[in-house]
Amino acid sequence: MVQYSKPDFWSLKAHKEGYPARSVYKLKEIDEKFGMFNHFCGKALDLGAAPGSWSLYILRRMGASGSLTAVDLSPLSRQYDKGLFDGARFRFIQGDMTATDIREAVLTSGPFNAVLCDAAQSTTGNSSIDTLRSLALAETALEYAETALAPGGSFVVKVFQGGDTASLLKRIRGLFLQGKSFKPEACRKESFETYYIGLGKK
Ligand SMILES: C[S@@+](CC[C@H](N)C(=O)[O-])C[C@H]1O[C@@H](n2cnc3c(N)ncnc32)[C@H](O)[C@@H]1O
Repeated sequence: MVQYSKPDFWSLKAHKEGYPARSVYKLKEIDEKFGMFNHFCGKALDLGAAPGSWSLYILRRMGASGSLTAVDLSPLSRQYDKGLFDGARFRFIQGDMTATDIREAVLTSGPFNAVLCDAAQSTTGNSSIDTLRSLALAETALEYAETALAPGGSFVVKVFQGGDTASLLKRIRGLFLQGKSFKPEACRKESFETYYIGLGKK
């Protein structure tokens, strides 16, 4: 991933508000626009979860009977969770979301009512390679939605624009009543990432 040396407005705000990464504001905007966590008390899956801002946001936002499974290659930051990551409502699986054993472990916690994926590999600087890798992760996330998302459930996935993202959006539109693309204000101006949203799994 690209390393940014100076903490910006969103990073400083995140630390002040108890989140390890600025990415929380992207999910907050998505939630505010599409209402995916309004009265949410089901099961959510967070793919590519570290350092853990989306997971913390979801745990704080969902009702008491909601639960969350999170997956990442890296461990989560324990700086701000105040024990939330130790609770019975949360399960963290450390590993590669594309690997069969990890997929099988995740499926034991399903079916889910929301599948979210903010996963991204380290960027190489070669936009063709980076978009291809991002698309492969997004397609894997969509496979989780196909197999483990309950009817009526929602889906959020990050994609780097470029490459064959049109066919991904087409697949999302086939699986959900609504499929949209949305670029939150909190995305860095220079970033070519955007989010695809699926609402109401058929
Ligand atoms: C931008 S960060 C996610 C930030 C997170 N949503 C948050 O709010 O804290 C992207 C994450 O995707 C993870 N990742 C990339 N490829 C992965 C894979 N194949 N399996 C699991 N996690 C992966 C990286 O380890 C990284 O932690």
